[in-house]
Amino acid sequence: MAAAAIRIDDLVFRWRPDAAPAVKLAKLTVDAGKSLFLHGPSGAGKSTLLNLLGGVLLPERGRIEVLGQVLGDLPAARRDAFRADHLGFVFQQFNLLPWLSALDNVLLPCRFSRRRAQRAGEPDAAARRLLAALDLDAAAHGAPAGELSVGQQQRVAAARALIGRPEIVIADEPTSALDAARQDAFIDLLLGEAKAAGSTVVFVSHDLRLAAHFDEKLALTVGADA
Ligand SMILES: Nc1ncnc2c1ncn2[C@@H]1O[C@H](COP(=O)(O)OP(=O)(O)OP(=O)(O)O)[C@@H](O)[C@H]1O
Ligand SMILES: [Mg+2]
Repeated sequence: MAAAAIRIDDLVFRWRPDAAPAVKLAKLTVDAGKSLFLHGPSGAGKSTLLNLLGGVLLPERGRIEVLGQVLGDLPAARRDAFRADHLGFVFQQFNLLPWLSALDNVLLPCRFSRRRAQRAGEPDAAARRLLAALDLDAAAHGAPAGELSVGQQQRVAAARALIGRPEIVIADEPTSALDAARQDAFIDLLLGEAKAAGSTVVFVSHDLRLAAHFDEKLALTVGADA
């Protein structure tokens, strides 16, 4: 039996006590090495769920287990360390440091996590290999991230999520960044690299057309009362 990378039970999260739940999810299991496509309209709680999976937010009710660890059982500092060691994030707005080069942005997780640095082997070479594998020209590796195109920034953000082979890669797709053909190519590259590293992938998008790339699918709805 495959081990579960992610296991969620009876999850409820609200941003305010008097608000409707932003996320309500009875059950979700993602086996290690599989990819999950998470979709739903704007405001459905996709980014909120990703932050719950990363232990950035804690649920009001229910249980989130990541790699056998119940996130709510860890104090905040240990949750931060767990996230840095085991999860790679591609944020919806990328969150690159604009004044740092593409290469130095990719290397950031290796500065925050010794485990990621060790698993990267020689981090500089690993970062360059990932950027090249994700189709970023070598000429752009030294450019400040803030001067790259949106598509190039997405590649840098993906390489940063993948470096040091985290067990889980979480990607929140930018809503309007790329045309369809480039988005398909990007997903193939991301999934190919994640598979080579044995990583489990959770990928968010509005675009249902992309679902075919993934092993599992989950729809979230606004209001979360389903
Ligand atoms: N920091 C926050 N404080 C209060 N409410 C928030 C916060 N972030 C999100 N919300 C609310 O939670 C709900 C879900 O938002 P979320 O960002 O998770 O949606 P989403 O599915 O990622 O949407 P999009 O596709 O537009 O990125 C929305 O009603 C939103 O207003
Ligand atoms: Mg979002």
